[in-house]
Amino acid sequence: MKVNTTVTEGARAGEDVKAAETAETAGAQTAAEQAERPEVLVRVRGLRKHFPVKSGGIGRRKAGTVKAVDGLDFDIREGETLGLVGESGCGKSTTGRMVMRLLDPSAGTIEFAGRDVTKLSRGQLRPLRRDFQMIFQDPQSSLNPRHTVGTIVGAPYRLQKVNPEGGIKKAVQELLELVGLSPEHYNRYPHEFSGGQRQRIGIARALALRPKLVVADEPVSALDVSIQAQVVNLLDDLQSEFGLTYLIIAHDLSVVRHTSDRVAVMYLGKIVEIADREDLYTSPRHPYTVALMSAVPVPDPGRRESRERILLKGDVPSPMDPPAACRFHTRCWKAQDVCKTVEPPLAELVGRHQVACHFPENTPTAGEPEAVELVKRVSGEPPVPVTGVVREDVDGGGAGGGAEEGPKLTKDGPGRAATQDASADVSAARDDSATQDASATEDDSATRASAADTGKTPPGDTPESPAP
Ligand SMILES: Nc1ncnc2c1ncn2[C@@H]1O[C@H](COP(=O)(O)OP(=O)(O)O)[C@@H](O)[C@H]1O
Ligand code: SF4
Ligand SMILES: [Mg+2]
Repeated sequence: MKVNTTVTEGARAGEDVKAAETAETAGAQTAAEQAERPEVLVRVRGLRKHFPVKSGGIGRRKAGTVKAVDGLDFDIREGETLGLVGESGCGKSTTGRMVMRLLDPSAGTIEFAGRDVTKLSRGQLRPLRRDFQMIFQDPQSSLNPRHTVGTIVGAPYRLQKVNPEGGIKKAVQELLELVGLSPEHYNRYPHEFSGGQRQRIGIARALALRPKLVVADEPVSALDVSIQAQVVNLLDDLQSEFGLTYLIIAHDLSVVRHTSDRVAVMYLGKIVEIADREDLYTSPRHPYTVALMSAVPVPDPGRRESRERILLKGDVPSPMDPPAACRFHTRCWKAQDVCKTVEPPLAELVGRHQVACHFPENTPTAGEPEAVELVKRVSGEPPVPVTGVVREDVDGGGAGGGAEEGPKLTKDGPGRAATQDASADVSAARDDSATQDASATEDDSATRASAADTGKTPPGDTPESPAP
């Protein structure tokens, strides 16, 4: 890819420079490039979800606000797969549930096929729900154990009062075949299936009404690694066959790499980087993305040894009290004073690559081809290639020396156990327990009502449960 702009490190702190870059980048996009872009199916602007948290005990006063999602802007184009990745608790599921309108946003707008659906009532949403469906993380808990596969997969038809040609049973059996199961499975119960097969049942249910958008929240993370690829391939095949648009949520960058056309990286309720998949993987710009990327397992032992792991020190800050300005500054090895006072906007650097950072990585310089190797620039020193280099502490010589919290970067090794490892944290991101804390939020009743309306369920519930 050719570089169109010149951006020097450190210069991005100025708003005027940023505006000039954006204008230049926009000008570099040809009319042909614009025309190639498919229609936007989902347009999200300024999306926020703040959960009021109440104290325990009598009275249950408001104790604070969890800023789970705090101002997201992104588009999902027709027919594409947008991957949404980030550590546990960064707001991915909350985002997915808002896009599905299972949760009401605190602020912002969601447009679906050009229509603002942010404020539609349950009744107004009902006909639209055919067009967006969700696949949940845990096929075990998202399928009612007391219902047959036929009842589960046929539920969307009944809820939407749709009579498919040939009847519901025939349609369900066709769906089962489509997802690699047998029509004979119609009368079986979920417990008779393996994890991968159960996820296929969930996929069949999501596809019953031929939706336009499918939001898949960690669709393979509860499955054995050996089964994950099969389910990912199935999602891929179904996308080609039905022209589906996907929002795939994952904590695992390697899953997203194989499924996404574009990838958005989230940190503490914000998107810090969005780019086309190859662009993101060859030239990650945000330091957080670089750290996540360094944690992706490499199958080739030779390359594995020569690669450096970037281990982020410290815990992810609380979303109740996120750091000011750049939220990553408490863990970033490049942090300077400006990072603590001026929030870096999500701006286009080159082409469609957007990043929210004052000092992005892999920044090309004038006339040079775009960097594809990870390069860390330390003030006063020549660029240091990351590959094969042991970095123990770049803070001491850090640009501007703004970081106060001590070394944030360590090499992989014995110290790892004491370190908050991006990969370990990311891999462990299976816990939706906070999400399930119904009592903590005022929105849950609405969520559950919406979920019941669609036959879908917020994490932690069993869908389609018979009324008590
Ligand atoms: N219903 C809720 N009430 C209060 N806090 C919540 C609720 N749902 C999620 N959260 C909090 O919002 C943040 C984002 O959660 P979530 O979207 O589930 O993250 P992720 O899917 O990225 O792991 C977490 O800190 C979580 O504890
Ligand atoms: S702290 Fe500064 S350098 Fe680090 S990610 Fe934030 S804006 Fe970029
Ligand atoms: Mg989640």
